[in-house]
Amino acid sequence: MEKFNIAIDGPAGAGKSTIARLVANALGFVYVDTGAMYRAVTWSILQQGLPLEQTADLIALTERLDIRLEPGEHGQLVFVDGKDVTGMIRSAEVTGNVSRIASIAEIRSILTAKQKELASKKGVVMDGRDIGSHVLPDAELKIFLTASVRVRAERRLKEISGDRPDITLEQLEREIAERDRMDEQREASPLVKAPDAVWMDTTEMTIPEVVDRILELCKTRVSGVN
Ligand code: CDP
Ligand code: CDP
Repeated sequence: MEKFNIAIDGPAGAGKSTIARLVANALGFVYVDTGAMYRAVTWSILQQGLPLEQTADLIALTERLDIRLEPGEHGQLVFVDGKDVTGMIRSAEVTGNVSRIASIAEIRSILTAKQKELASKKGVVMDGRDIGSHVLPDAELKIFLTASVRVRAERRLKEISGDRPDITLEQLEREIAERDRMDEQREASPLVKAPDAVWMDTTEMTIPEVVDRILELCKTRVSGVN
């Protein structure tokens, strides 16, 4: 099959990584989780104890980091300078700080360059916030996935374990809404639906329904696919 790129964007908990991974598996494409890259940078900054207002130091650290994404048995593995940080980048501390770090334009350009490079040979399903609008404006298929904040918080609550056993649905809803607000309102490549992206509200859709719909769009929209 001819290779092409798929961009999947949307707010937190919309199902981007779950859907992107399944679509990539079905097509034999590579899945790239760009949120994991912003999380890896945030984890490294926190780990080194750098003051968050010292932007120049944060940018210098980001430039030095070797971030790698590799397929693992249970999903994508994330390595920073050879260390497996897959679990650590999902901590509440990283989640609470990542949107602030992701609002720094220079950090975005460093990661965007890496993302463009990963997609340069095509055959990539990439998910994030600015993939269709900024990172891969020429992606053959662009999807904007969303769902109500309540449903997204409910989905996230089912996943919560480990470091936040007592979190309530209302707390999660507030945190998700705040992260969406920061991602949508930042100046540097904010979360936005690209004009040519297909809008999909998954509030009442199951995971297989969303995957099938995207695979269908691949057949009808992307030339050379059958
Ligand atoms: O999986 P979840 O929706 O919690 O978020 P994520 O995809 O892991 O992304 C974490 C954060 O990274 C987002 O809230 C954004 O602030 C930032 N991000 C971004 O700015 N641009 C991207 N392409 C991907 C993530
Ligand atoms: O990557 P993003 O933050 O957009 O979302 P995710 O981590 O892929 O999905 C959040 C949770 O919602 C996961 O537990 C998925 O299994 C679940 N999900 C769902 O229940 N129904 C959907 N249509 C999509 C995702």
